[in-house]
Amino acid sequence: MQLIDGKKISSDILDEIMIQVKELQARGKKVPHLATVLVGDDGASQTYVAAKVKACERVGFESTLVRLPESTSEQELLEKVNELNANSAIDAYIVQMPLPKHINEQKIIESIFPQKDVDGFHPQNVGKMALNLPTYLPATPYGIIQLLKRYNISTEGKHCVVIGRSNIVGSPMSILMARNSNPGNCTVTLCHSKTVNLKEHTLLADIIIIALGRPEFLTANMVKQGAVVIDVGITRVASAQTKSGFKLLGDVKFDEVAPKCSYITPVPGGVGPMTIASLLMNTLLAVNSKN
Ligand code: GUN
Repeated sequence: MQLIDGKKISSDILDEIMIQVKELQARGKKVPHLATVLVGDDGASQTYVAAKVKACERVGFESTLVRLPESTSEQELLEKVNELNANSAIDAYIVQMPLPKHINEQKIIESIFPQKDVDGFHPQNVGKMALNLPTYLPATPYGIIQLLKRYNISTEGKHCVVIGRSNIVGSPMSILMARNSNPGNCTVTLCHSKTVNLKEHTLLADIIIIALGRPEFLTANMVKQGAVVIDVGITRVASAQTKSGFKLLGDVKFDEVAPKCSYITPVPGGVGPMTIASLLMNTLLAVNSKN
């Protein structure tokens, strides 16, 4: 069993980006500028956003954090989005999800300029991804593709079972694994809450990618010997053993599943750190597509 070290790969990618930023500067170009819009005080979102700002600093990007109160109206947020679209100093931006209930997320996503949409959430970018045209891949699926690539994990002709069909992870992941690309070329089964007898599917999988948000859902009796397991879940649960009073659990019952795997991602330190690296790769792409 080999552990997939997302922390190390992410750090390698940030170092590579930093070198490219230095090259841009050496050519007299301005450094990439990523903005993040955070509406409200969701704890997890604040943590993610802080990590994004820190990663920008590390690679030498400029970053702007736009904080808006929970009471922000949809109209006010649309105005902010329009302002960011029009601001030529901002190369790329994201609106952190989830948004407060009174704001229509899809409406916001569709108002972001596709060229600045480094989350890859705009329907134009999702369409390009589905057609295997160059575009921004959403951060988590892109991060997983990087892990598979950088560990030289062979995917061609393999049976990949994706569990979860969210717009952010499961659905794009199923498309990417089926594409005529490397990584890709898998036979893909997309399982979700209406799937009957999930275990019948997972037991046939060479590669399992699980993004459910249900701690320790995938158990050893659901996994074939030698499978590759990618765990996207990250749920905070109360714990008496840690100083913080909580611990992070993935969707995989790691201790019993890991011995059966050829490769597995841990939680934390697997897929999580990769999402930020992906976002910064997309931001560099936004700049390079302009130059
Ligand atoms: N919330 C959870 N994941 C993401 C992400 O990748 N992008 C944005 N904008 N919000 C998120």
